[in-house]
Amino acid sequence: MASVYVTRMLPPEPLDALRRCHAVEINPHDRALTREELLREVRGRDAVITLLTDTIDGPVLDAAGPRCRIFANYAVGFDNFDVDAATARGVILTNTPGVLDEATATHAWALLLSAARRIPETDRFLRSGAWTGWGPLQFLGRDVDRTTLGVAGLGRIGKAFAAKARAFDMRVIYHDLRPSPDFERACGATFVDKATLLRESDFLSLHLPLLPSTRHFIGAAELAAMKPTAVLVNTGRGPLVDEKALVAALRDGVIWGAGLDVFEEEPRLAPGLEALDNVVIVPHTASATFRTRQAMGMTAVDNVLRVLAGDPPLTCVNPAVLR
Ligand code: GLV
Ligand code: GLV
Repeated sequence: MASVYVTRMLPPEPLDALRRCHAVEINPHDRALTREELLREVRGRDAVITLLTDTIDGPVLDAAGPRCRIFANYAVGFDNFDVDAATARGVILTNTPGVLDEATATHAWALLLSAARRIPETDRFLRSGAWTGWGPLQFLGRDVDRTTLGVAGLGRIGKAFAAKARAFDMRVIYHDLRPSPDFERACGATFVDKATLLRESDFLSLHLPLLPSTRHFIGAAELAAMKPTAVLVNTGRGPLVDEKALVAALRDGVIWGAGLDVFEEEPRLAPGLEALDNVVIVPHTASATFRTRQAMGMTAVDNVLRVLAGDPPLTCVNPAVLR
């Protein structure tokens, strides 16, 4: 039996699968571990299951020590990992791609539609007791049908998101490092450069990984290049957007609205964001469905079980360590 540490309570089924094979210890608190707790709890473990809120860098890897073979992230994003530091120490890193594509894509649509049709704002209004009856000019929103959808980042989630645009008969344009001819044929999407994406999108949704090259992919200049009627959606990572610049753009009518699942300095919001009615904000819940969270847990656990059995993991993010 190996010793496995889990940095936060996960759905029960994957944990049960892990407990059948190994000694499992779980953070007993209903909160993320502090840095000190993390450094203490990883010591001497053979494997650790981590969250996107756990920074796994050289000091944490060293605290875990030479027995530790794998840090398995319970997330598809892995910007919380210092990949080079792990690779240098021969430690395997894994994530949970694939199983959360649909849930995340659907959540991006929920934010898009909520922002376009002002759902949270009008829900708040109605509950306030201020409604005096139907009015022809009350709470007009933006049409979604037959508009142009922009997708930044055509990975697994971007593709799942774009594919759902058919229901609204939209023109789909996308930007990424390179075009995807197969996807273009299958979904009728068109590759464009970033300037065209910004200029022509009525709705622009971000599905990029957070990298040094994608930090502030949307800043003040990009917002100014968008239509004043446009809606920005972000279910990727907060720092893809300069949140301060977005607050100013939403306040000044540079763009029309936004739907945000992620924030630059979670759990804090940029000053002024929460006071704006033209932004829909939710607490990083894009993958938060029962089925998806269970599947993410199974992926993380499968990776740990395989590595502890001497097999290669299913979804390694630093395959150089396997060679
Ligand atoms: C969530 O943000 C994830 O990366 O899975
Ligand atoms: C709206 O309720 C309408 O009947 O047009």
